[in-house]
Amino acid sequence: MSNDVDLKGRSLLTLSDLSDGEVAWLLDLALKLKQDKHAGTCGERLAGRHIALVFEKMSTRTRCAAAVAAADEAGRTEYLAATEIHLGKKESVADTARVLGRMFDGILFRGYRQETVELLAEFSGVPVWNGLTDLSHPTQALADLMTIKEQFGELKGRKVVYAGDGRNNVATSLMLGCAVSGMHFVNCTPDSLRPTDDLTEHANRVAAERGGTVGVCSDPAEAVAGAHVVYTDVWTSMGEEDQFAARVELLQPYQVNMALMQATGNVESDEVIFLHCLPAFHDHRTEVTQKSGALEVTDDVFEAPFSKVFDQAENRLHTIKALFVSSLERE
Ligand code: CP
Ligand code: NVA
Repeated sequence: MSNDVDLKGRSLLTLSDLSDGEVAWLLDLALKLKQDKHAGTCGERLAGRHIALVFEKMSTRTRCAAAVAAADEAGRTEYLAATEIHLGKKESVADTARVLGRMFDGILFRGYRQETVELLAEFSGVPVWNGLTDLSHPTQALADLMTIKEQFGELKGRKVVYAGDGRNNVATSLMLGCAVSGMHFVNCTPDSLRPTDDLTEHANRVAAERGGTVGVCSDPAEAVAGAHVVYTDVWTSMGEEDQFAARVELLQPYQVNMALMQATGNVESDEVIFLHCLPAFHDHRTEVTQKSGALEVTDDVFEAPFSKVFDQAENRLHTIKALFVSSLERE
């Protein structure tokens, strides 16, 4: 691992906060921390560190990853549901940030507005990590890249296709993550859900400087040809529930099913994996899908040997731990 990278005291608000070298360094650290964890040799890199988990939206993976990551390294977390503190209601976000910054060494935020996580970072004086906003999900993208690296060894040159709601937090963070890693990324989505041209052009410039490409395509079969990774996410994100029915109709052609996986041309040669940030609607065993059954991914794809979604979920732990350690470990 290169010693040139120093992320002490650094926040992560969007993936653009990290250079290519920093992303690669964090992935290597996460891989090392995973080895340590599996060998039963976690340490005390976060001893005496207190991390606030401020959550406006629900979470399983991000919340648990943060809690276990800190505890593994002798740090502590405090879960603060936004409904149970004064954040933005009886007290401005800036004032809450200043209070939290006097007590905690770092803050992980999950919520609606990107502006809230920016205010927390501006006023708390401690590192702030974005654990998902409407705009971006950078800690997810790090786990996604780590999972791809574990499977293929090298990120550069691999082709990643995201099929579904192309302008959501997961899609756009993955797009930036693939770009900065010199990969080939295709955002496969209907015209009405394309990421902004500004973001796509920015990602394409970043990718081009590193030998990669970023494109947008509305035809799923064309997009996935030659893909090494096929990725999808829910069709309606938290906070957009009123659009559920319209999205199901609009995005049906973008469902990741076996026919789409076969269209990569890489299933037989074991050169393609399926990823999903989770939670996923892959069968009828949820309240939402008991009548409809699978939505964005079919059960046979979700359960296939090429599906690495639970490795990816586990990697949320190791990548969040890498962020905490790189930012908060004492000399
Ligand atoms: N992928 C992800 O962020 O999951 P949670 O919503 O469970 O945190
Ligand atoms: N796009 C999804 C991701 C959940 C982890 C959402 O925002 O709900």
